[in-house]
Amino acid sequence: MDKTRASAASAPKQPPQAVLFDAYGTLFDVYSVGLVAEQLFPGQGQALGQLWREKQIEYTRLVTTSDGGAHYQPFWQLTQAGLRYACKRLKLTLTPEAELQLMNQYRHLSAFPENREVLQALKSLGITTGILSNGDPEMLGIAVRSAGLDGLLDHVISVDAVRKYKTHPEAYALGEQATGLRAAQIAFVSSNSWDALAATWYGYQTLWVNRYALPFEELGTQPTRTGSTLKAALDFFPATA
Ligand code: LAC
Repeated sequence: MDKTRASAASAPKQPPQAVLFDAYGTLFDVYSVGLVAEQLFPGQGQALGQLWREKQIEYTRLVTTSDGGAHYQPFWQLTQAGLRYACKRLKLTLTPEAELQLMNQYRHLSAFPENREVLQALKSLGITTGILSNGDPEMLGIAVRSAGLDGLLDHVISVDAVRKYKTHPEAYALGEQATGLRAAQIAFVSSNSWDALAATWYGYQTLWVNRYALPFEELGTQPTRTGSTLKAALDFFPATA
C-alpha cells in the first residue's frame, strides 16, 4: 500500500483546495437521452437508457481490466457500442438515423440547473475546479461548451490520457497531477455511487450526489459526504454552507 496516501487519508480533513467533478450524470443531465429514446421507442425509453448506461460502464471496466488495456477504445466508441448492444438486447431496431439522433443528444447534454451557481461560488472562494471524467477530450469539450460552463472550470481532465477508465487508480491520479495537490486535499464529486466509493478508496474527500434517493454501495466504505444536489459541494467549506 502507498504509505503517503494511507496517512493522508487518515489525517484530519482540512477543507479541500480543489473540487473535481465527474461529468455524466453529475454535471451533465443524461435524462434528455431517455426522452429521445422514449420518442423513438415508446414504452422502452427508460429501459433503453438504463441498459445503455450499464453497458457503457461495463465496457469501460472490460477494456481496462482485460489484457493489459490492449482493447482500450475512447468513451465515445464505448458509448456507441453500449447503445447498439442495448438495442439488440431489447429487440429494438436501431436505424442509422436513430443512432445518430441518440448519440447527438449525448454529445449536447444540458447541465443541471444548480451547476453554474455552485461553480461560481467555488471560484469566488478561490477553489480550483475541474472535471475528471471517463469522457474523451472531444466529448467533454463539446459538453462543457454546450452547457456554457467554460470559464468556470480550471481543468477538464479525461482518463483518455492514461487509456484506463475509472476506477483504475491511474485514472484518479490524473486529478492530483493536474492540480498539483494530494488526493486528500481535493474533493471529488460524483453522482455514481461506484465512482464516489472508488475515489474514497483512492484517498479523495468525496461527495456522492444522490439525486434519485438510491442506496449507496454495500462494500463497507462511505463517501465523506452525501447530498441530493451539487449544492452540497459547498458544505466542504463551512463558512459558506
Ligand atoms: C464520467 C462517467 C463515469 O463522466 O459518468 O466519468
